[in-house]
Amino acid sequence: MSKVKAAVFASGSGSNFQAIMETNDLACDVVLLVCDKPGAGVLEKAKKYGVPSFVFEPKQFASKAEYEKLIVQKLQESGVTWVFLAGYMRIAGPTLLEAYEGKIVNIHPSLLPDFPGIDAIGQAFKANVDVTGVTVHFIDAGIDTGPIIAQEPVDILKEDTETSLKERIQKVEHELYPRVINQLLQ
Ligand code: GRF
Repeated sequence: MSKVKAAVFASGSGSNFQAIMETNDLACDVVLLVCDKPGAGVLEKAKKYGVPSFVFEPKQFASKAEYEKLIVQKLQESGVTWVFLAGYMRIAGPTLLEAYEGKIVNIHPSLLPDFPGIDAIGQAFKANVDVTGVTVHFIDAGIDTGPIIAQEPVDILKEDTETSLKERIQKVEHELYPRVINQLLQ
C-alpha cells in the first residue's frame, strides 16, 4: 500500500527536516519541501534527499492569500494530504488553513502556551525558568496556538548557556517530531 504523501515547510537550517528524512519507518513519503527563504540551508538538505522544493519570496506577492494559493496548488499537484511545519516562520492564513484543515502540524521549542513566537529558547533562557521543552501541535490562525498533540519537557541546567540549551532542545525535537508524525498517521 502506498504511503500518505506529506510536505514539510521549513525556512531554516533544516535539522528537523533531516531528522524526519532519516527516520527509517516514517509513515509518510515527504514529496515536497516548501520554503520561503531562497538560500536557506534546508534547501541543500532537500536536494540531498531528492525531495523537490517549492521556494518562494513572500514580498513578490501582493498578499498572503496570493502566495498561499500557489502553495496549495503545488501541494495538491503533489498529492500532499498532510503538512508538517518545521521552522516555517510565517503565520498560516485562511487559504492554507481551509485547504488543509486539521492536517497541518507544527513543532515549537517551548512548552506552549509558554514562550510562543520567535526565539522561544532565548525567551525561556532569559526568563530564568527551570524547565522548558518542545511542543507538537495542530496549527490555527494564531501564533503557536492550536490543539497540543505532544509535549516533552527539557530541564534548564545551572551550567546551561543558550547554545547548550538549544542543542538539548533540538535533540528532543529530532526524536519527538518523527515519533508524533508516525502516531498521527498510523
Ligand atoms: C526548530 O527549533 C523548530 O522547533 C522551530 O524552528 C526551528 C527549526 O530548526 N519551529 P531547524 O531548521 O529544523 O534546525
